[in-house]
Amino acid sequence: MITLAHLSDVHIDGSARNEGRAARVVDYLAALPGRVDAVLVTGDLTEQGRPEDYETVLRLVAPLAVPVLFCPGNHDERTAFRGTLLGLSGSGPVNQAHEVAGASFLLCDSVIPGKPDGELAQETLAWLDSALAEGDGPAFIALHHHPVPLGIPELDAMRLLNPDDLAAVVRKHPRVAGVLCGHAHTAAASTFAGVPVRVAPGVKSTSLLPWEHDGDLTLYDTPVGLAFHLLDQDVLTTHFRALA
Ligand SMILES: [Fe+2]
Ligand SMILES: [Fe+2]
Repeated sequence: MITLAHLSDVHIDGSARNEGRAARVVDYLAALPGRVDAVLVTGDLTEQGRPEDYETVLRLVAPLAVPVLFCPGNHDERTAFRGTLLGLSGSGPVNQAHEVAGASFLLCDSVIPGKPDGELAQETLAWLDSALAEGDGPAFIALHHHPVPLGIPELDAMRLLNPDDLAAVVRKHPRVAGVLCGHAHTAAASTFAGVPVRVAPGVKSTSLLPWEHDGDLTLYDTPVGLAFHLLDQDVLTTHFRALA
């Protein structure tokens, strides 16, 4: 059994409000009597990609005693993300492979700099294909942008623009156990290319479905949330938590 805590879209911006909501999730995880195998944060770690906000992210997750894996989102900035969180230089897509608890976590950079929608560059797709070919244990693909429509038109308009390219890679590799993403600021479950998709709730805010609002898409006063994923053999089970 592989266990994972998944949060997303903390949007650290120097405000006490957003930092406090992120701290609420971390404090909850750090105080649990047991531990998950890893914590995944699927992007929009910061609002504007400022280096000092990545320093805040590092300080916030420091109490977690397990690996913390970060994807970049459209609000992040590659150079600051790479330099501050990973201690690396470079300017291309930030793709990372991690092996945790017998599973591969393949974190793909779906950011198009300066744009809200997402795309997996050819270099990222080739990297993912070869990383999946290297092992035979279960593999999670993580990226910021959702590859399938979620029924929220405003966000579906800025989802992953080349889902067919990703689907072709997923279908080649039966070891893909699921696709984990954020960006939509809503706790959701779907399917893509024959595998489960899980969208973590947005720590900063929650996006509403068309029948839940009358023009104001975003709710800011919802409880802070996260997802727990459990992979047992090839069955992915997800529990969503809302923290009062
Ligand atoms: Fe976001
Ligand atoms: Fe986003």
